Amino acid sequence: MKTIISPSILAADFTNLISDISVIEDVNDLWLHLDVMDGHFVPNLTFGIPIIKQLKKKTKLPLDVHLMVTNPEFHMEELKDVGIENITYHFEIETNHMELISKYRSHYNSIGLSIKPKTKAQDLDLELLKKLDLVLVMSVEPGFGGQSFMPNALDKIEYLNKVRKENNLSFKIQVDGGINEETGTKCRNKGADNMVAGSYIFGKGKDQYKTQIETLR
Ligand code: DX5
Ligand code: ZN
Repeated sequence: MKTIISPSILAADFTNLISDISVIEDVNDLWLHLDVMDGHFVPNLTFGIPIIKQLKKKTKLPLDVHLMVTNPEFHMEELKDVGIENITYHFEIETNHMELISKYRSHYNSIGLSIKPKTKAQDLDLELLKKLDLVLVMSVEPGFGGQSFMPNALDKIEYLNKVRKENNLSFKIQVDGGINEETGTKCRNKGADNMVAGSYIFGKGKDQYKTQIETLR
């Protein structure tokens, strides 16, 4: 299967979002990565449910929602009928993950859990991994775009890939933060199959978005 690339609109021009998105609208194996920040789980604040619902009407690209929020259940509830491709929230929040994931199982094609740089991949036990469609390994502290890749993400990807193979599981391994051609290749070689990139894609001119995307596969 082709590596899925998830361009993060955090690095796009928010005042001309549709014009930026339209450039990549016809690219295959692409998800649109939407970073929802609540100013509490992370210090930064981005956008929420109304904007995601509006975006859904304006693009055919599969939406990949990354919830950096303290109360993901609220967002999962409000977005459950919108037709989101994948929704990911953070393992570090206090909740019963098995219950929360089961509750929204039928509403989302794919549900993911994300781990921050200081969280061990081993903390995700096998029973939980069996329930997941995706594990998002953060390779920067969540909250801001444009940071440098933290190499400890590579060991986590390698470990998750090993557990996935040994147990015949099918969750995707996504990586997010500081991804460029070089760090992306390292992640792919360790077993990542879904790459989020913000500044590497949208930091260039519109005429280069597509070529930047293809260098990550
Ligand atoms: C950071 C976000 C990322 C961010 C990545 O908290 O989760 O999705 O947009 O940005 P780059 O690719 O610039 O590191
Ligand atoms: Zn993200």
